[in-house]
Amino acid sequence: MLGPVILAASRSDKMRRFVSAAPGTKQVVDRFIAGETVDQVIKIVRDSADKGLEVTLDVVGEDITTPEQAAAARDAYLELIGHLADLGLGTGAEMSVKLSMFGQSLQDGHELALANVRPVVEAAAAIGTTVTLDAEDHTTLDSMFAIHEELRKDFPQTGCVIQSYLFRTEEDARRLAAAGSRVRLVKGAYKEPASVAYQDKAEIDKAYVRILKTLMHGEGYPMIGSHDPRLIAIGQELARQAGRKLDEYEFQMLYGIRSDEHLRLAAEGHRMRVYTAYGTDWYGYFMRRLAEKPANLLFFARSVVTK
Ligand code: FDA
Repeated sequence: MLGPVILAASRSDKMRRFVSAAPGTKQVVDRFIAGETVDQVIKIVRDSADKGLEVTLDVVGEDITTPEQAAAARDAYLELIGHLADLGLGTGAEMSVKLSMFGQSLQDGHELALANVRPVVEAAAAIGTTVTLDAEDHTTLDSMFAIHEELRKDFPQTGCVIQSYLFRTEEDARRLAAAGSRVRLVKGAYKEPASVAYQDKAEIDKAYVRILKTLMHGEGYPMIGSHDPRLIAIGQELARQAGRKLDEYEFQMLYGIRSDEHLRLAAEGHRMRVYTAYGTDWYGYFMRRLAEKPANLLFFARSVVTK
């Protein structure tokens, strides 16, 4: 019940101002956001590597309103990749990007987002790593998949995300389960209407299993993005049935969520990648994490009241 309300608030400027200024917010934000600066996130990359974990790094931000902001987002990723290169941390650290942050919703946004993301993908490839295009709300996905296809002509290892709550995704998965593709499957984190998406949790989970089966039996590289213990166990079983070795798929989870599980899967020999978000424009990312688990909202409310 609360989830859709919080997701609606995630697009409100008034709420953004209120939440950002509330005392106690920072304490809760810190659970999900790895820091505000490149130096802070580099420390997390090193700590993760020491624990046998890989990362995918997200410079938080989305829904920008000017081409200058889109260029700044591109430059923030280029700066990050430059630091990783200088420190020899290229492998094991991938990038995740939201095309809305690269200008996708502005005038001529498709071309602008492609022009801004390409140098990031090039720079990542030059240090031996890659970029995954996050999936945002359903109105952006045709453009995202077209940009993904375009980038893959020169950088075939570029990944993308698909969301099991959308009716379209089973067909997208069949198309994407081709040789060399890298596809992260998640349940989906946006407020979507019943005309395009399952609303019932059990339906979303069943679709997740069907889609994962397609990916596992396909020729690409499936990335299982979930904290759900049932889906993780099913993912392991589907990989076994498809005859995949441990390095032919991976698990992915978000920084700050079920951290013990990150370590358990890595200790079992699985490739475990932690989606590590950092930066100052954390509001949209943070609100989606609150919406996923009402207990987070209670924790947040308590920390605001007791400050
Ligand atoms: P579910 O929500 O059922 O959670 C299972 C269990 O995990 C919960 O019972 C709880 O213990 C724990 N948990 C989950 N979320 C939590 C939270 N916020 N706080 C505390 N505990 C929590 N979405 C999208 O639309 N586009 C994208 O590009 C991505 N990218 C992405 C990358 C990665 C690596 C992950 C793991 C997830 C995403 N997502 C995403 C988010 C995804 O769509 C989904 O909203 C969350 O992963 C929550 O769904 P689960 O599969 O974890 O199951």
